[in-house]
Amino acid sequence: MHDRRDSAVFALCVALGSLSTTVEAAEYARSTFGTLADGQTVEAITLTNAHGIAVRIIALGASVQMLTVPDRTGKTADIVLGYANLGDYLTKPQYFGATVGRFANRIAKGRFELDGKTYQLATNNGPNSLHGGVRGLDKVLWKVGEVSRGPSAGVSFSYLSPDGEEGYPGTLMVEAIYKLSESNEISIDYRATVDKPTIVNITNHSYFNLAGEGSADGVMHQLLMLPADEYTPVDTTLIPTGEFRGVAGTAFDFRRAKPIGRDIRSGADEQIVYGKGYDHNWIIGRGSVRTPRLVARAEDPVSGRVMEVLSNQPGIQFYSGNFLDGTVVGKSGRTYRQGDAFVLEPQLFPDTPNRPSFGSARLQPGETYMNRIIYRFSTAKN
Ligand code: GLA
Repeated sequence: MHDRRDSAVFALCVALGSLSTTVEAAEYARSTFGTLADGQTVEAITLTNAHGIAVRIIALGASVQMLTVPDRTGKTADIVLGYANLGDYLTKPQYFGATVGRFANRIAKGRFELDGKTYQLATNNGPNSLHGGVRGLDKVLWKVGEVSRGPSAGVSFSYLSPDGEEGYPGTLMVEAIYKLSESNEISIDYRATVDKPTIVNITNHSYFNLAGEGSADGVMHQLLMLPADEYTPVDTTLIPTGEFRGVAGTAFDFRRAKPIGRDIRSGADEQIVYGKGYDHNWIIGRGSVRTPRLVARAEDPVSGRVMEVLSNQPGIQFYSGNFLDGTVVGKSGRTYRQGDAFVLEPQLFPDTPNRPSFGSARLQPGETYMNRIIYRFSTAKN
């Protein structure tokens, strides 16, 4: 009797177990996003979970092209800016969702010194080098590697950057591994190895609007929290001055969540004027850590969508979409204008190679560079 009851319970558990694995397994689908002029195919990999989250990554720039997330009523919206077709990514590049590097953010005058030798990078942002130069990691075709489904679905991309590409020393092997879990987390592992000393700083450049891309109100009412006591002020070309400035009493204080737009018109703060809004690096810690920690939390009070960002990096660049100027039409046919999105880029401090007090961006043969970024989605009650 006892035995029979036990085996019935066991059978029920097995049935429930298999039910939950069939219903809850994250999945992937592969498709062709477009074809380059030289005939190479740009693949798109879409990862989905059972809770309404779907993320599509295209092999050009290993870029997030779409990310749908449910609101508090279960209604999904695509919360990242992007284009509908490959042609727009090629002719109107904006770093939408892209992997940026080899050195994300700015290097003053595109110049740095390593082991007594001066390297000159391509300058593509006034006098400075931005996001890896003219043809950075966002503009190259990555190779699609392993694709998997299961408790989390994933896809890995790789790119071999030749010695001297865009002026950077060393042959750099870069990997971007995306995963989507049933617990509503998307993780990106950026890894790199090199055959001779170099500098590296790789991040993701997704533009978020938690109300849905192209929605009428932009992101100025969305709430942002940055757990940082200090940030790195910049000069007029957005290169850090070297100072660590306290956020207390300034427009840069996001330690308690506040609407992104609340202090963005603080004309008295020259930093806001230089950036045409926020385009600065907040200090999470001095130096990278092993385990990702919370670096930002954003919430749309209307839809209830919440996104937490975790990373092992010491800094986070928060950019309030200041250069979106109304000339770009996004994937749903809507124009993107200033303040229509925010970008949160976990990374080293800008211009680290020229600022020993900012830490080190050096990567040596035998070491593995790693930026692990996690986006965790949930909803807040009304
Ligand atoms: C980063 C920079 C910004 C801008 C965008 C791309 O966020 O800090 O100044 O260049 O990339 O437009």
